[in-house]
Amino acid sequence: MAKKHPVAVALSCEHLDGCVVTGKTCPQLGWQFQSELPGAIQAAYRVLVASSDARLAADDGDFWDSGMVQSGDTIDIRYAGKALPSRAGCFWKVKVWDGTGSEGSWSETAQFRMGLLSESDWQSKWIGLDKEPYAQIRYAQMFAPVYLRKEFAIGKELESATLYASALGWYEFRINGQRVGHDYFTPGWTDYRIRLYYNTYDVTALLKQGQNAIGGVVAGGWHNWPDRGGKMRLLGQLELQFKDGSSALVATDGSWRGALGPERYAHLLLGESCDMRKAIQGWDTTDFDASKWEVPVEGLDPGKPFASKVNVPAKPALEAYPSAPVRVYRERKPAAIKSVVPGEMFVLDMGAYYTGFVRLKIKGAQRGQLIRLRYGDWINKDGTLFNAYLRLAVNMADEYICSGAPEETWEPRFTFHGHRYVEITGWPDPKGPSESDVVGIEITQYAPDTISFACGSPMLNKLFESIGNTRRACFIEAPIDCPQRDERQGWFGDALIFANTANYQAQLHSFYRKWMVEILDSQHKGGGFARLAPNNNGYWPDSDPDGGPIYADISVVLPWKIYRHYGDREVLQIFYQAICRYVEFRKTTLSNWLRDESKGIIAITNEWYGDWLAIDHFFTAETSEWGADTSICYAAYTAKMFMTASKIAAELGHKDDAAQFQGYFENVKQSFNQAYVDEHGMKHPTQGNCALALAFQLVDGAVRALVSKQLRDEFRKHDWNIGTGIFAAPAVLPALCSAGHPDEAYSVILKETYPSWGYMIKSGAASIWERWYSRRTELPEDEICPPGRGPCFDKNTKLGNNSACHPALGAVGEWMVEYIGGISPLEPGFKKIRIKPLPDARVGLAEVTYLSPMGKIRSAWTLDGSRLRMEVATPANTKAEIWVPAKNQEDVQVSGDKAVLHFSGMQDGCAVFTALGGSYVFDSVTSS
Ligand code: BGC
Repeated sequence: MAKKHPVAVALSCEHLDGCVVTGKTCPQLGWQFQSELPGAIQAAYRVLVASSDARLAADDGDFWDSGMVQSGDTIDIRYAGKALPSRAGCFWKVKVWDGTGSEGSWSETAQFRMGLLSESDWQSKWIGLDKEPYAQIRYAQMFAPVYLRKEFAIGKELESATLYASALGWYEFRINGQRVGHDYFTPGWTDYRIRLYYNTYDVTALLKQGQNAIGGVVAGGWHNWPDRGGKMRLLGQLELQFKDGSSALVATDGSWRGALGPERYAHLLLGESCDMRKAIQGWDTTDFDASKWEVPVEGLDPGKPFASKVNVPAKPALEAYPSAPVRVYRERKPAAIKSVVPGEMFVLDMGAYYTGFVRLKIKGAQRGQLIRLRYGDWINKDGTLFNAYLRLAVNMADEYICSGAPEETWEPRFTFHGHRYVEITGWPDPKGPSESDVVGIEITQYAPDTISFACGSPMLNKLFESIGNTRRACFIEAPIDCPQRDERQGWFGDALIFANTANYQAQLHSFYRKWMVEILDSQHKGGGFARLAPNNNGYWPDSDPDGGPIYADISVVLPWKIYRHYGDREVLQIFYQAICRYVEFRKTTLSNWLRDESKGIIAITNEWYGDWLAIDHFFTAETSEWGADTSICYAAYTAKMFMTASKIAAELGHKDDAAQFQGYFENVKQSFNQAYVDEHGMKHPTQGNCALALAFQLVDGAVRALVSKQLRDEFRKHDWNIGTGIFAAPAVLPALCSAGHPDEAYSVILKETYPSWGYMIKSGAASIWERWYSRRTELPEDEICPPGRGPCFDKNTKLGNNSACHPALGAVGEWMVEYIGGISPLEPGFKKIRIKPLPDARVGLAEVTYLSPMGKIRSAWTLDGSRLRMEVATPANTKAEIWVPAKNQEDVQVSGDKAVLHFSGMQDGCAVFTALGGSYVFDSVTSS
């Protein structure tokens, strides 16, 4: 609830709520300014950080008292107090003043803690057991998870207990029979050769006086995909603080004991197999005899980073995990259970696409009964699972061998499968599982949802929801391309175009900041960046010094996107030197400012992606009817990258660099016009080519008008179907709008025949496909990506890549928020907001609510003939520009917080208002 006096709410440290444990010596603090006075702004703030709750309550900021700072800033407030030692508990609060001088009361108390900052804080050793793989499928070795344990006594009254935990692989710690935390795939994904993270848990409540047991299970995870030959390692340091002021430590070392458990294997791609007959009852309690367990090996060997990388440490750094881990998002009930082979095989439709696995409740199984689970994106017409496109991952299976207990519950812990359908064989009851026997466990990176999108088109609502399903399914430690086949990589190109959409849908600030460390780590000394990260096991050759345009451009464009969205200036500062190196490197790969096939990426790997997956796309796309030519696509993205670098330089005050990079942009633009444009507009006027030229500001004046017409003609020719690749697709709707034809943008997004977004949804998709033609439901054969179409053939199956869950084409979500809802940032972090919806009669109404870094923004409209009602609410401490479509000013009736709203003129068929934070209703008559 807003208060009479202003107050700071939603306090965050390192962009996370809750008690964050950070390794940063000057963590970023933030809050939202709240006031019930319309138009209130923050005039000043004061932050106190104290070493104890009691001190903070007494307003004693012994760590930091910022004093009263005259500033409206609420984002990226960097701690600037005393140096904080390892383990320091920090209690903080903030007081704000508004523009009338009204002093607020103190906010609620928030907390953060310092992690272990130096190597000398670590007493524990990396331990493990090195075993032969259980099985090998092609190049995948499947190892059994390793169990490690130790007992210890607590003789004094405990004040607190903290566990610092890490692994080479994935771990799960347990204390006295209970799981520590509820995170998955810890300690997170990095290039293990450069850094490993540790997680921190308060485990006080799990310990007791007397004898205690601690155990950890470690599985392969990303360390074994692609494979690095087992050798998983566990690291744990349990620090005990006693009430008498003394302390003690329980650390992984040679005194622990290890054994294999009931799992035969656990592999990120290939699933998990558990033989419950071999369960080690009580291994994580004190009621257990471990005398036959083995002495573990010690030491860590994640391999050496490639020598030409910018960051090549002597050994991997061990750092506090900087984000919120993967957790359960929700549990799903099966929508349908079909018996496919009576009594033997059942296929479950889980209702929507998600990433995770299923939990089984099994009753009355024979001891030794094998239940097998396989997962898929689609089903065949006969109801059987279709997953031929998963390449190596087609061999995946989760297996459970029953113990024979009257009731058993099981779910895998060390694997994940993107899927909608689950095949079950070996179920003990020939009638098959019931709805309550199988629960879908959806996991994703923890990130609060921030958006609600609803409009008058059920198809568009479903599309937006499907984009969300796809995002959650693919946000697992990195924005991965897909969650099911043998890939699951943080491909830069896909991630770059999808980032704005993702950031509208969820609070992903810390997620991206974590992943951006991996991006930085992928830079080569020559200035080039990789094309995916983390690349800990070399999914892509480390020796490749250039991920190429679009992909490697992420190093420049993503920091800007994060700044624009969250107002996080630090990210620009951290990247700046790397950006300058990259910009100069890219220049060297061009001739006359356009791509040169003898230089850079093409000379090394001969692999160009161009406008990837346009309907008629192959590696050379110059003959495409729909997509952008590879050279045009690269020139457009390169130009955009130079322009973004210039904006970043200007923002950081590097004026000369800004002018130089702007010059690079102009040079590319000039060459672009010389090479690809003639007196008719684009020489090769495909949808993709025209859209990129317009959206990336590469054509001006009369040429721009010609290209706009070409784009519209092209769409008209294709009856508003879209067939560009993933990199031109996000440019299409903004380009049509900038050409003055939002109605035509709506014609494209509302299209429901092949190829279009609506076609996917009409075909029953609840996720975004990899290709427009991932499935051809309209053809009599209803084929799933007809073999022989498109690039990337798998040598074994002879099939091209295909996936029902790929975020890239979902990048249209950004347009839906910014043009249907009309919400976008005019200043970084939404300190200034533009509300400019494009009402369309076919859609009739829309309501979008977005929880921005500054607070909640709402934009809603209904259009009835030419009568338009717009409702807008913006948070305190912001400014807004509100564009109300109207014939003229007299036709606009305004109600709400009028005192802080000003009409500033008519522009582009809209009455434009400037506003401070408040709620407004506009009734207008539009010219249409
Ligand atoms: C991924 C893409 C990615 C591409 C690069 C594919 O296998 O799934 O989305 O951008 O590789 O070629």
